Amino acid sequence: MGTDNGLKRIYLDNAATSWPKPPEVYEAVDHWQRTNGTAVGRGVYDTALETGRLVLDARRAVAQLLGASDPSRVVFTLNGTDALHLAIQGLIRPGDHVVTTVVEHNSVLRPLRQLADGRGVAVTHVGCDAEGIVAAEKVIGALNSKTKFVVVAHASNVTGALQPVAEIGAELRRRGVTFVVDAAQTFGEIPFTAEELSCDLLAAPGHKGLLGPLGTGVLYVRPGVEERLMSIRTGGTGSESNSTKQPTTMPDKFESGNLNVPGIVGLGAGVRWLQARGVAQVRRHAQTLTLRLCEGLSRIQGVRLLGPRDVERRLGVVSIAIDGYDPQEAAAVLAGSYGIETRAGLHCAPLMHKALGTDSGGGTLRLSTGPFSTESEIDAATAALGDLTASQ
Ligand SMILES: Cc1ncc(COP(=O)(O)O)c(C=O)c1O
Repeated sequence: MGTDNGLKRIYLDNAATSWPKPPEVYEAVDHWQRTNGTAVGRGVYDTALETGRLVLDARRAVAQLLGASDPSRVVFTLNGTDALHLAIQGLIRPGDHVVTTVVEHNSVLRPLRQLADGRGVAVTHVGCDAEGIVAAEKVIGALNSKTKFVVVAHASNVTGALQPVAEIGAELRRRGVTFVVDAAQTFGEIPFTAEELSCDLLAAPGHKGLLGPLGTGVLYVRPGVEERLMSIRTGGTGSESNSTKQPTTMPDKFESGNLNVPGIVGLGAGVRWLQARGVAQVRRHAQTLTLRLCEGLSRIQGVRLLGPRDVERRLGVVSIAIDGYDPQEAAAVLAGSYGIETRAGLHCAPLMHKALGTDSGGGTLRLSTGPFSTESEIDAATAALGDLTASQ
């Protein structure tokens, strides 16, 4: 695959959305669109029933990946942001207190800010260390008698640093405080189950590590949590249609209106591909590439690597600051002269960049690997960055 200027395309922006997807994903979407195309949960004819089975298969695959036996615990959403909204807005009541961290993406920071500005919600942002890691004790230390829930990213989308969510979750479970995990960067990237994290709600895009199409996301709801989670999106579900009240059954309580079936069918294929490959294998591949990338980058003078060096404590999401280079300018040169697609700027994580001291310089340049990234692509990126700094 080439770029407009004839260069071989090297995609290193998998933290934004994964590409390419496994061939099975494209095939599943194309096949369903051409041969079926019906709404789910509405009709009794064969194609509609088939769509129902496909959506259930996708739900089951996502649930299995999380170690959940009941597929109805998985709610399909529009993306990671939408899943976080269902969790945050559904839990919050005026006067509540929420604990979060400076590591978070704006998909957590902005809804909380709006609630703080307009609905009298108090929010505590726990800080991180120089590697961008939050200490579990600090999160627990920020709780007070009004804390309704804690929301923490499983890993930073800026530094790739893994956060101690299992430790935080275990203590919150002991204290009976609701725990929301933003697994946008980790679901499908590292092996874990919902119970290992002791989370009550887990939000993730379907289009990153789960390898589904854009426009997909999931919210896992631990059994019983739906009773204290208000539905913020009410409407037609194809079930209990004689009533004007929103159903209370899972997942209908949180899924109103026609689902993104083509996206979900593709998501199901992506997750089945992951199950066959094994998330542990995907993780090993990412670690091999990350190690190679970090070693290559650390040999370039003028490049500063952010986040932990140890690949056990990080993902294949690597941010760098380049002396004398605006990150946007560096990204433009990489794309225009080398066909290398990266992401520059603040990555929708303003407090993280502030904590790292990279906000004033326009953020960082982020390179992020995917399951189809190769060693030669990593070497090409390192060589291009070497050229770039040498030509200054
Ligand atoms: C940590 C984190 N949370 C949430 C999101 C939002 O996901 P989406 O783009 O699917 O809404 C992202 C996306 O980059 C992310 O990195």
